[in-house]
Amino acid sequence: MSHPLSPTTSPPVRVRGLRKTFGSGPVLDGVDLDVAAGTVLALLGPNGAGKTTTVRVLATLLRPDAGEVRVAGHDVVREPDAVRRRVGLVGQHAALDEVLGARQNLVMFGRLHHLGRREAGRRADAMLERFGLADVGDRPVRQFSGGMRRRLDLAAGLLVAPPVLLLDEPTTGLDPQARLEVWGAVRGLADQGVTTLLTTQHLEEADRLADDVAVLDGGRVVARGTPDELKAAIGGDRIDVVVAEGRRAEAARLVAAALGVDVEEPAARPDLVTAPVTDRAAALTAVVRALDAAGLPPVDVGLRRPTLDEAYLRITGRPAEPPDGAAPDPAPAPDGARPARATGVAA
Ligand SMILES: Nc1ncnc2c1ncn2[C@@H]1O[C@H](COP(=O)(O)OP(=O)(O)O)[C@@H](O)[C@H]1O
Ligand SMILES: [Mg+2]
Repeated sequence: MSHPLSPTTSPPVRVRGLRKTFGSGPVLDGVDLDVAAGTVLALLGPNGAGKTTTVRVLATLLRPDAGEVRVAGHDVVREPDAVRRRVGLVGQHAALDEVLGARQNLVMFGRLHHLGRREAGRRADAMLERFGLADVGDRPVRQFSGGMRRRLDLAAGLLVAPPVLLLDEPTTGLDPQARLEVWGAVRGLADQGVTTLLTTQHLEEADRLADDVAVLDGGRVVARGTPDELKAAIGGDRIDVVVAEGRRAEAARLVAAALGVDVEEPAARPDLVTAPVTDRAAALTAVVRALDAAGLPPVDVGLRRPTLDEAYLRITGRPAEPPDGAAPDPAPAPDGARPARATGVAA
């Protein structure tokens, strides 16, 4: 039922200038966000950044103070019912009946969404199959592992086949195996064309699942791009080199020369030198050789991913980008170059 005047090119999730204040001050202070059709956008941000608040506004559970928020072409304030029919929400906390079986939960959910008994049953079976739960469909949910529960959550969120899916920290609290299960399920949905916005505190999750990433901080989207663009902005892997105290300056010069990059000497650690690396193995060898040759063998050397703190520091340390109002689609970039995005992380 698209309105003759509704723009067909409008993305399934479109947020402009979203503001929301609770008592003490603004939580969302002018959020701009688009999720293109059939893509997964990861809304990344530290605890308290306003991710859940954003999701709740999109799901019509919370009224925005200001801004334009449209889901599947419908305005969340003026057409909340139309939005609700088109969006599936999987929250941080499962809303499952522990005593009922998985299948019963799904059927009940379908009935709540006005499906007939037979149709609800048919869809419940299809969803159990899709999420690998067909064999345990009759078991009470209280016997389910964390990963099985979250897959059942996803099944419930998709039972009514919404074109837009909102996942609020879908893997928080799950063990690594369960996390992999959920990632597989989400990726599968994306491959079938469901437009998905998921929130996460984990860079790795955004990297695995998302076509695009938006970083929420200080009430605004402070960086936006593909996971590769984000990682490029963060600086990729890091090498940590621990040396004897008093010899750090010397070690820093050697590491900088061996890797050809700027190194950091963290204020809190007088024995640590840290640097970004591109080729992990080559960097490790080069650093150890250089330090050994200078008679300064490292006490410890380690390679690691950048921490989330480093990522946020890098990203939020940049000046804010101009609002995204330009052409939505960047031209494909040549290998190794960053696409010129309207609001790329590459400032
Ligand atoms: N209903 C509410 N009333 C008052 N403050 C709230 C409410 N919901 C969220 N907040 C506050 O808004 C901020 C953002 O919360 P939230 O959106 O849950 O962040 P995130 O999901 O990114 O961790 C937090 O400081 C939180 O305490
Ligand atoms: Mg949250």
